Amino acid sequence: MRPSVRRKACVVAVALAGFLGFPGPPRTILASWDGERRAAYRVPAEIPFPADNPYSAAKAELGRRLFFDPILSGDRTRACVTCHLPDLAWGDGRSRAAALDQTDMDLRSPTLLNMAWQDGPLGWDGKFRDLEAVTPVPLMAPANMNLTMAEAVERLSEDESYRAAFAAAFRDPEVTPERLEAAIATFERLIVPGTSPFDRWIAGDDEAIAASAQRGFALFNGRAGCAGCHSGWSFTDGSFHDIGVGTGADIGRGRFIKSSTALRYAFKTPTLRDVAKRAPYMHDGSVATLGQVIDLYDRGGIERPSRSRQIRPLDLTATEKADVLAFLEALSSSSRPDLASATFGDVPPTP
Ligand code: HEC
Ligand code: HEC
Repeated sequence: MRPSVRRKACVVAVALAGFLGFPGPPRTILASWDGERRAAYRVPAEIPFPADNPYSAAKAELGRRLFFDPILSGDRTRACVTCHLPDLAWGDGRSRAAALDQTDMDLRSPTLLNMAWQDGPLGWDGKFRDLEAVTPVPLMAPANMNLTMAEAVERLSEDESYRAAFAAAFRDPEVTPERLEAAIATFERLIVPGTSPFDRWIAGDDEAIAASAQRGFALFNGRAGCAGCHSGWSFTDGSFHDIGVGTGADIGRGRFIKSSTALRYAFKTPTLRDVAKRAPYMHDGSVATLGQVIDLYDRGGIERPSRSRQIRPLDLTATEKADVLAFLEALSSSSRPDLASATFGDVPPTP
């Protein structure tokens, strides 16, 4: 080998080692990243809104009121906020959502953070086409909010202040299911996390997260292979994978796409923003702590035809597990935008 070739091979090996996440001196982890790679982890400057349901302050205000108002449940005891609580990262802290009779439903209430960036189907198994399409489902489910859409429209139409709010939002006081769904979705798109220590670190503050969390981030992107699915600044690819949680008849996305082996037992990759604030974990709340989540990945899920090719035993050391945990904890924001009392302006608030 010519010396220059050898030198090149050496540079490649070092770069590869960095990429694979071998712990080096913490500062070099980020220092070796070019601007583009860092930029992928920066919170975007603006919240995107679809062309057919653009932002307006009046719509956001109406959506907020509806989200918090038990008028949208049959016996006026529950609202969207019953299961999507701002202080629990917009989940409810239960392993499964509570039905009207307080028995467990099949699924855990997911966080609503960063919905504006979710282009693909929503719900743990992708049963919802888009954000607008979610609202009628919990609203009309007999075990949940238990209201008919006709009754929802009637109740809101009879309320003078709601008619005025619909008029402000849609230049017409008529209450329709589509308008109700559009307003709630506009409010939901404003649900974003606050700034986390990780964000301060990515922006250049070397001291913002501990060396352990920095090593954890390198493992996350490297040997532990987490970033393959938890990709980008919101830490999700919005896609569906079998990581070894569902068993038996609990086949997730496989219910809808029966011909696909890979989608059997596949569930939607959740964002990891504020993840430490919303235990327990997974679509069925079956994993109690973040430490146990890391153990699950370390075991490599369940060996079966549907298992994602990215899931395999990792053989992480105790220190490496602690490092990944420290990184996940660094994604918690210390404060959050107070959407319950915010005043909405002509342009949407920035994330
Ligand atoms: C009883 C608790 C409960 C109530 C009340 C409730 N939800 Fe949910 N929500 C859930 C559960 C459980 C899921 C997961 C459903 C699924 O995946 O099929 C969910 C899923 C969602 C999702 C999809 C999130 C994602 O990551 O894909 C959105 C959006 C949402 N709910 C909004 C609402 C809105 C708007 C309301 C009020 C109209 C509401 N929810 C009322 C429990 C609840
Ligand atoms: C093959 C894609 C994939 C890879 C690789 C992957 N994840 Fe996940 N992750 C998912 C999916 C899908 C879920 C939801 C599974 C469910 O609910 O059944 C999930 C759930 C989680 C959760 C729970 C979040 C919540 O709100 O319930 C955490 C935490 C997590 N992953 C962290 C990690 C870490 C750390 C790694 C690397 C060791 C990793 N993931 C690797 C796809 C992946």
